[in-house]
Amino acid sequence: MKYSRTIMSLSPSATLQLSAKAKELKKSGRDIVSLTAGQPDFPTPAPIAQAGIKAIMDGKTGYTPSTGIPELKEAVAESYSLRRNIEWNSSNVVVSCGAKHDLANLVRAAVNPGDRVLLPRPYWVSYPEMVKASGGIPVLPEKRLDPCEILKAADLGAVGLLLNYPSNPSGYVPSSDEMSRIADAIADTDMWVISDDIYEDLVYTEGAVPHILDYRPELSSRTAVVSGVSKTFAMTGWRIGYSLANREWSKLSGILQAHSTSNPCSISQWAALAAVEGKADKEKREMYRSFRDRRDMICSKLSDVEGIQFDRPEGAFYVFPRLPAVNDTAGFCSELLDEEGLAVIPGSAFGAEGYIRLSFAASDDDIREGVNRLNRFLRRRYTV
Ligand SMILES: Cc1ncc(COP(=O)(O)O)c(C=O)c1O
Repeated sequence: MKYSRTIMSLSPSATLQLSAKAKELKKSGRDIVSLTAGQPDFPTPAPIAQAGIKAIMDGKTGYTPSTGIPELKEAVAESYSLRRNIEWNSSNVVVSCGAKHDLANLVRAAVNPGDRVLLPRPYWVSYPEMVKASGGIPVLPEKRLDPCEILKAADLGAVGLLLNYPSNPSGYVPSSDEMSRIADAIADTDMWVISDDIYEDLVYTEGAVPHILDYRPELSSRTAVVSGVSKTFAMTGWRIGYSLANREWSKLSGILQAHSTSNPCSISQWAALAAVEGKADKEKREMYRSFRDRRDMICSKLSDVEGIQFDRPEGAFYVFPRLPAVNDTAGFCSELLDEEGLAVIPGSAFGAEGYIRLSFAASDDDIREGVNRLNRFLRRRYTV
């Protein structure tokens, strides 16, 4: 049988593969510490879980409109109109099976075969494959995103770009000055933007994450905002994300969804509504405080590891140290897992060879033990 050449050119998700391998080894009895998780290690807050249970008991278990129940779409439109000071209504919103699904729909709806799309490094692992799945060509600048890279990409014919702050894998958050210059440069081009804001509520610096729409609200006509409940409300398995975009982009995204998955799970949508309406804000704050404390702890432990360099993450739940003289991080991570039973993700998965990603969405004990194992492994490697 012949398969699609486009789909055969895609790489599997390194993050999902490595988490699965670590789980498998643990199950087989090996002493494994995994710092690979891309999800909170907390249960979904009770008020949200109860809203899901109530939806089941109330029989809200049939198909819903394919882009989501009106109640959730209205709540999302209202909440993000306030947050970003942009007027959005339900017709701008698509509720999907996780933020990843929203991103895939939006990319699919905007990219034609041969289109170039700018993906600043380090990028989230799925962006290049989403672009390629639409027949597009990822444009990967060498340096961190700056106005020159944007203008250069536009000159080379790039049609759009993806932004993700706080960043997975680095936790990086741009300064207001930096974001304002990025927004100005984008405004000088015709490029569309997808702003992946899934970690928007996990920020450890003062104030909110500078957002492109804060500086150039007029870009809302060609900027799609993506977020969801997965990370902030410990709801990764419920699979609810949402996007806000201009009506045409949302309509196309919705048509694609109607012909692929139909609506996201009805029960999850009612549970997500409780989250968006603020019914679990107390629990959200508690989880946030734990992540902030763990961020401080992992940074303090890592600062004792000789040879590595890292920036203190300002958001999300990842730290992204640079290793001393390693240019095959996939091999490095595989040896680290074999020899020390520590699972982390290689920077190559994010287009950043020479780095590794450690998640601090893990228990204090696992974080401590994980960094000890990394330290031991590096010492052995560099002292023989
Ligand atoms: C940057 C980024 N965007 C999107 C997603 C997808 O989120 P969801 O689980 O809601 O699909 C993730 C999950 O790891 C992520 O890290």
